[in-house]
Amino acid sequence: MKQRQIVSIDQIRQQEEICAQIFERITAGGQRPLAMVDTYGCQQNEADSEKLRGYLAEMGYGFTKDEFQADVIVVNTCAVREHAEMRVLGNVGALNHSKKARPGQIVAVCGCMVQQEHMAEKIKKSYPVVDLVFGPHELWRFPALLDQVQTGRKRVFSAAPSEGAVAEGIPLQRDGNGVKAWLSVMYGCNNFCSYCIVPYVRGRERSRMPGDIIAEARALVAQGCRDITLLGQNVNSYGKDLPDGVDFADLIRMINDIPGEFRIRFMTSHPKDATEKLFQTMAACEKCCHQLHLPVQSGSDRVLKRMNRCYDREKYLQLVALARRYMPDLVLTTDIIVGFPDESEEDFEDTLSLCEAVRFDAMFTFIYSKRVGTPAATMPDPYTRADKQRHFDALTALANRISAEKHRAYEGQTLRVLIDGETGKDDYNLASRTDGGRLVHLKGDPSLVGRFAEVRITASNTWALYGEINESFEF
Ligand code: SAH
Ligand code: SF4
Ligand code: F3S
Repeated sequence: MKQRQIVSIDQIRQQEEICAQIFERITAGGQRPLAMVDTYGCQQNEADSEKLRGYLAEMGYGFTKDEFQADVIVVNTCAVREHAEMRVLGNVGALNHSKKARPGQIVAVCGCMVQQEHMAEKIKKSYPVVDLVFGPHELWRFPALLDQVQTGRKRVFSAAPSEGAVAEGIPLQRDGNGVKAWLSVMYGCNNFCSYCIVPYVRGRERSRMPGDIIAEARALVAQGCRDITLLGQNVNSYGKDLPDGVDFADLIRMINDIPGEFRIRFMTSHPKDATEKLFQTMAACEKCCHQLHLPVQSGSDRVLKRMNRCYDREKYLQLVALARRYMPDLVLTTDIIVGFPDESEEDFEDTLSLCEAVRFDAMFTFIYSKRVGTPAATMPDPYTRADKQRHFDALTALANRISAEKHRAYEGQTLRVLIDGETGKDDYNLASRTDGGRLVHLKGDPSLVGRFAEVRITASNTWALYGEINESFEF
């Protein structure tokens, strides 16, 4: 087993000392400067932004969503598709205006996009508005990097290639109202699906120690958190790099044993590593939601092989059947890529037929996007953008029809939900989630946020359910 790379507690303490120095410097005038953190991409990035905000809060910054009010702007980027990168570049370019209006404003760009050398170079050359660039592997030393920019009055670029480390003890400022939380259990990915940039920018798979995860989960529950989502690019391979043989199912059991009323969810699961033990554990642990995000990507064996997904259509269908045997009420969602290089009409038909066979509760569909440096980027592709769009539209229509049908089947049922926020709307003012993660809009007193409730589903559409709270239910 390879040596685990760990950022030591002393290294994190040094960063916190730098935060204290920055605090002295920036609050010396009696004012509280403001920071803005803008996040793109997946839940991993959202969890990283909670760390960036944790550090910024220790430095003494307050927070704003208005770039014209911000003294420090951090843009946490995603590289998974070209569209995500274009949005980031457009928005970073537009920061010229706020920087002109607010001399001294510091603009930092971090995250997956800038971990790619060509993107870091592009920003260096073409985006002079950017003062600081750092990749996901450098996040733990954000205070030192920001300090260099502030005291050296120079641009700092720090995104060297790395396999990645595990850093514990970074302060966190969590998003939201405290009802739900992300909890990263592992970082990186080893799968190298042929289309995907994530393994190149996030490094190799590395698991946090079970003790650190349990301690964080306990603290969340003690603070009133009712819904914990365990995060990783491929949570099913949790623990493979740890010495003590704890796997993901064991970890769920340990978290399930923490006293308190809360729920456990997780994402994402790779089909090649999903096991019967996992499904058994999900069914047996009363706090674990019967919800599984199991990206299939394609229904065609030829495409799956060229994607390097390491399973075929039959294996996927068997897995779904097995999971449903343990959890007949399982809510199953997936990701699908349309227009992978050389995906034919026949391949696409196979994807449609798989979706009809499985009947996913929701599908996240993407048009293939070429990523520099990945094997798929050099695969020949005779199909046009119009072909891909046509397939995408057909798949979206199918996904929407099935979601609407599945939602309609809930009408008249009574379900347990967690009321997790306000919608800001007058008619249905509360948002809640079923154990399976389906969104239910409700009417009720805002003081119910954070409470479990029993609701009767009265209406539905493609995206959500609508319900009435059963007032006689004992909270
Ligand atoms: N680790 C997760 C997903 C990470 S990325 C998993 O393996 O399931 C989220 C989704 O983005 C993927 O499931 C895939 O459907 C999509 N995706 C990744 N790379 C892509 C690309 N180059 N073009 C289009 N979609 C992509
Ligand atoms: Fe990308 Fe595949 Fe890893 Fe998911 S499992 S992050 S799709 S390489
Ligand atoms: Fe994007 Fe990085 Fe997540 S590429 S999807 S933010 S891991």
